[in-house]
Amino acid sequence: MMETLIRGGRVVDPANGIDGRMDIRIRDGMIAAVGEDLPAGSAAVIDAEGLAVLPGLVDMHVHFRDPGQTHKETILTGARAAAAGGVTSVLAMPNTTPPMDDVSFVRYVYEKAAAADTHYYQVGAITKGMLGKELCDLPAMAEGGIRAISEDGKSVMDAYLLRQAMEEAKELDLPVLSHCEDLTLVHGGVMNDDENAVRLGLPGIPNTAEDVIASRDMILARDARCRLHLCHVSTALSVSLLRFAKAQGLAVTAETCPHYFTLTSDDIPSDDAKFKMNPPLRTKADREAVRAAVLDGTIDVIVTDHAPHTAEEKAKGFRHSPFGIVGLETSFGISYTELVKPGLLSLGGLVRRMSVMPAKILGLPAGTLSVGAPADIAVFDLENEYTVDPEKFRSMGRNTPFAGRRLFGRCVRTILSGRTVWEDTNL
Ligand code: DOR
Ligand code: ZN
Repeated sequence: MMETLIRGGRVVDPANGIDGRMDIRIRDGMIAAVGEDLPAGSAAVIDAEGLAVLPGLVDMHVHFRDPGQTHKETILTGARAAAAGGVTSVLAMPNTTPPMDDVSFVRYVYEKAAAADTHYYQVGAITKGMLGKELCDLPAMAEGGIRAISEDGKSVMDAYLLRQAMEEAKELDLPVLSHCEDLTLVHGGVMNDDENAVRLGLPGIPNTAEDVIASRDMILARDARCRLHLCHVSTALSVSLLRFAKAQGLAVTAETCPHYFTLTSDDIPSDDAKFKMNPPLRTKADREAVRAAVLDGTIDVIVTDHAPHTAEEKAKGFRHSPFGIVGLETSFGISYTELVKPGLLSLGGLVRRMSVMPAKILGLPAGTLSVGAPADIAVFDLENEYTVDPEKFRSMGRNTPFAGRRLFGRCVRTILSGRTVWEDTNL
């Protein structure tokens, strides 16, 4: 029998109301005991003195590019990046090449993911080829193990088709993840439509492109009675609409990414596509609204929208490069440094948003250190400041606007079903 004892760390497990100095015993990949001064016996001991011991993080929005663009990321490299960020479960979006629009592709990714250093869950596309014309065979894909449906990267612009998909999602008990973007309003824009777009001479994307689809999808979901989850919320009005919908009792949840409560378009120094993502960095007013919504729980979840692209593509500037930034290896550090370190949010509150809530929304066996749960554990050093160095990322993507940023909250060890899949050797 394989036993490990994680000794003396600050164990934070909000699902069980725990935040205190404790030991955790792992046996056969599961959590066997949590308590003070557990006897080591013959267990291998991991010293967690002075470190935070958290349930493994759950990132419900990543892009792993497998199949089709494995020069950008594979399921295995993406999983290694996840492990380095303390993430033990990921939900992968379906905009691969080809897209995840058929159960045979879903079977392919699950086969590959069996050897990955993270628990991998797949989102199914809503329409065939993600072309917005014809629904996928959603029941077959549900059989194959998809955990949600989405057309992430764009919206299903045909409201009637989306409404049908929502009715099927309701029957299949799958959440619908909405990327909110009205393409007719985007109209070729590449960054937020504000004075910084004027400064850089670039075409703008208005907030309304997000706002009209966020409101449309909440209205449609209310009618279809399905579970709706708004992806990467970035505007003040979307936040207000979400707050209103929740107050009405709608079954809606939402996520945002660290960059939307940290950066604004003012931070874009030049025509540098490392700052290009979709939705774009918005204004200060938007950032403050998003941040307030994360703090008061209106936005339930923090995700990365981890979107690796090659350096060559990203060197082409805002007009000619793809949207997206990587995030798996900076997400906790940014969130901790921005929200917990200044005293805006408790560490338990951050664990809720990065582990408990996404596990709950997706129905995953994660988000807690309860006895009997899989031993998915992330150990963080909260004391020592470090510098983000993309050259050290395990992701194949280096496209981040956070290079050189000083952060607290470095992942020093990640345990997946009792097995160490990441150990920081740079201490
Ligand atoms: O910035 C983004 N990149 N936003 C998306 O919605 C898609 C993603 C990607 O796949 O690169
Ligand atoms: Zn998206």
